[in-house]
Amino acid sequence: KKIVLAYSGGLDTTVLIPWLKENYSDSEIIAVCVDVGQGKETEGLEQKAIKTGAAKCIIKDVRDEFVTDYIYPMLKADAVYEDQYLLGTSIARPLIAKVLVDVALEENADYICHGATGKGNDQIRFELTVKALAPQINIIAPWRIWDIKSREEEIEYLEKRGIEVPMKKGDSYSRDRNLWHLSHEGLELEIPENEANFEKLLQLSVSPEAAPDKPTYVELEFEKGIPVALDGQKLSPLDIINKLNELGGQNGVGIIDIVENRVVGMKSRGVYETPGGTILYAAHRNLEYLCLDKQTTAFKEIVRVKMAELIYSGEWFTPLREALSAFVDSTQQTVTGKVKLKLYKGNIIPAGSESKYSLYNEKLASFTTGDLFSHHDAEGFINLFGLPLKVRALMKQNL
Ligand code: ARG
Ligand code: SIN
Repeated sequence: KKIVLAYSGGLDTTVLIPWLKENYSDSEIIAVCVDVGQGKETEGLEQKAIKTGAAKCIIKDVRDEFVTDYIYPMLKADAVYEDQYLLGTSIARPLIAKVLVDVALEENADYICHGATGKGNDQIRFELTVKALAPQINIIAPWRIWDIKSREEEIEYLEKRGIEVPMKKGDSYSRDRNLWHLSHEGLELEIPENEANFEKLLQLSVSPEAAPDKPTYVELEFEKGIPVALDGQKLSPLDIINKLNELGGQNGVGIIDIVENRVVGMKSRGVYETPGGTILYAAHRNLEYLCLDKQTTAFKEIVRVKMAELIYSGEWFTPLREALSAFVDSTQQTVTGKVKLKLYKGNIIPAGSESKYSLYNEKLASFTTGDLFSHHDAEGFINLFGLPLKVRALMKQNL
């Protein structure tokens, strides 16, 4: 039998290889590392997987696809979970699972195995995707089977077998990194009254206090809702995000510390760094303020919340998500133009925007009377708009 293993080289997935060897001894393990921009984590991974017992290790670089086919649809929708979380982990999961499915089909594998815990969201995202794309493949989720109860016990498990532990004790935050974000959970964060230790925690950004006293300006250009240039320079999707991560990180932009509602019903606390993503979201929204009409804006507010829920819950490959994306794409036809922003000590301050599709009409908005708008018309409008209020007030007077 063959098992395709979602492998990152982190603590959980390092334990998985010896555990699978011991518990599925008739099986061959194919470790698959999906590169969604986790950086240095992929260095030396192949040797490590094989040394600990995998038959082979496949690394797939899907960073471009991650940006264009997953992050962009999310950005165009302005999807934000519970008002703050830019879904950095959530949005990567369906793509990672899709790659696992592709490899499993190529290799004729029987199982897909992942290291997500039974308490988390990730198991749901991985498994819903497998169900949607290849329902015949079975799942192995060791966290729901074995007796290991904590990260400390995982470390012990590895030490007993003489396998190198991929982290220091005391720094065992559960982290998830990709080109869009870095999440931190665990340790002192598990107690909500503790202030997060930014000095120790942050890796992509500095805390706002440590950011420069001078602002940094960025200018982003969009075409149909998608960023195409930064500071007047046409750049690849990946380069735009990388550069914005740098600029945002230096200015302490895009750090959140939240208690969120997981799909499985519990609350969890996490610190997330999304420097570049936060800038892109702000720029995109500012351009939409200029280019979308009132009713579309209002409806899109509903769609963005629903879209975020779907992404958070792993419902990417669903008819509703696809239909909502089609709606969003239709709204983006005129979201073309430029937005300037000022980054300053954790803040993103608008510094002007322009679009040839702008619905902002200076003549109309200005306080100088022009021929597009008749002040006189407003009177009749208010009379009809206010008619229900008037009728009710008259009724009350007659009680
Ligand atoms: N709570 C966030 C989410 O559900 C981040 C999860 C991080 N995952 C991880 N394996 N460390 O999207
Ligand atoms: C995990 O449980 O594997 C990480 C946290 C999550 O999935 O929400």
